[in-house]
Amino acid sequence: MNQNFLAQWNKLKQLASNETLMDLKSLFAEDSKRVNDFSFEVEDIFIDFSKNWLNSTVLNHLLDLSKYANLQDKINALFAGKNINSTENKPATHTAQRKQQASKQILQDRQTMFDVAEKYTSGQWLTAFGKKVTAVVNIGIGGSYLGPKLAVQALSELQTNNHIKIYFYPCVDDTALKSILNSIDLTRTLFCISSKSLGTIETIRNTESIDKLLQQTDGYKPESNQQSFVAATANIEKAADFNIPATHVMMFDHATGGRFSVWSSIGFPVLMAIGKKKFTEFLSGAEKIDKHFLETSIENNIPVLMALISVWYRNFMNLSAYAIIPYDIRLKNLPAWLQQLMMESNGKMIDINGKHLSFSTSPWLFGEHGQLSQHAFFQAFHQGKDVLPIDFIGVIEQKSESQDFLLINMLAQSAALMNGNDDGDEKQCYCPGNRPSTTILLKEMSASSLGQLLALYEHMIFVQSVIWNINCFDQPGVELGKRIARNIVEHMQQDNIKYMNLDQSTEQLLSRVLGASNVE
Ligand code: F6P
Repeated sequence: MNQNFLAQWNKLKQLASNETLMDLKSLFAEDSKRVNDFSFEVEDIFIDFSKNWLNSTVLNHLLDLSKYANLQDKINALFAGKNINSTENKPATHTAQRKQQASKQILQDRQTMFDVAEKYTSGQWLTAFGKKVTAVVNIGIGGSYLGPKLAVQALSELQTNNHIKIYFYPCVDDTALKSILNSIDLTRTLFCISSKSLGTIETIRNTESIDKLLQQTDGYKPESNQQSFVAATANIEKAADFNIPATHVMMFDHATGGRFSVWSSIGFPVLMAIGKKKFTEFLSGAEKIDKHFLETSIENNIPVLMALISVWYRNFMNLSAYAIIPYDIRLKNLPAWLQQLMMESNGKMIDINGKHLSFSTSPWLFGEHGQLSQHAFFQAFHQGKDVLPIDFIGVIEQKSESQDFLLINMLAQSAALMNGNDDGDEKQCYCPGNRPSTTILLKEMSASSLGQLLALYEHMIFVQSVIWNINCFDQPGVELGKRIARNIVEHMQQDNIKYMNLDQSTEQLLSRVLGASNVE
């Protein structure tokens, strides 16, 4: 931390002790222009920050903090393809993935994906049973699942290839597999192995089970134009181990992070659902936000503001959670996608120089569709002892009574959270109000506006990481659990839990899971 940054951090700490800054009603009373001053618009997105615990003094100090963190240089470095993923010594190329004028390699990879999709949808390529594809099953997890799943659901109304149904098979789970198998015709299904590394154990096991099933099914006869598997990966060498011909492998750049990869060939299920034109609009929508993020001054830069406000809550107000509440079933999977994006990127305690941080980083993020949440956990939002910032998201295009009802509910909730009530004698009904939130309105649920929304959050997460001085593009913590599981599996072959070097609790539970036979 440089001295200026530290001084600014301390200044913000002092400001945070000023109680009127945390009183929304006073903030509105003090500033008649507050709604205007704290509302911003970019492309199809309107965002109202006015129901948050801050005024222009706080905001200016947060903006100064970002200057002392060299934010603009870091943004420039991201777009210039510098090695900002310092631990892995590579750039982060998700913004390059969605450029219309991308590098030759990226354009070539994108074209390969378009060609594969076209050949299968047109019937030029068939499954290994010689049949036209009617379903795609995506075998992938984490970033190779959450982004595509979100986009397929969000853009369900735009599906051009309606005769092709899209399914997702992320976990190793017999029940999930049975349910997919009950819905598809195996002989007419294309399986997309989606994995940046092609080394993820869940994806490998699921591919093996599907492969076994296919081999046991009558008529399975892979040929050059008849394949039931394609792969989307950054590990071309490994693809050969899966016996997938090179023509059916859709490459993407290894410097595109898994959780930022929906723009690459990992977006194949989305492409199969909405077609090339809409998929291109999805990329262009994100590219519009990239331009906004790169070129707009920080005080009007929406992802910068989103990030700084989240830092204010996390580090100065000590709020440890963050909720994301879309009031639209099409965005039902947004919280799960954002959970990985924020928590896997920024849930870290070691900075880019290897030093332990003295402050907190990523909040715990959760969320659900608005009306479902209202009837589940909103009670705690209104009357719980803890407070958390909330992002409400609504789509305002459709004019219907039900749609209006939905959005009215969203606005009623944010108003109730802010205003509370102190009416009547019924003590139990008391709601304190003063609960902060941000409201995001999307003009429509088009491929472009979805691209815009996702890019906004991606850049928000990047800005958080710059302030916290962490690398948001690696995930070393996730490796530990994987290592222990690998160790158990290896020793299981030696048939003895005692050699696994586990703690007593895990040893006991494992012996129950595996049956007592493995314990001496
Ligand atoms: O959970 C860890 C992780 O490495 C994520 O970062 C990634 O999105 C996911 O596993 C899947 O990885 P892959 O695409 O390589 O199979």
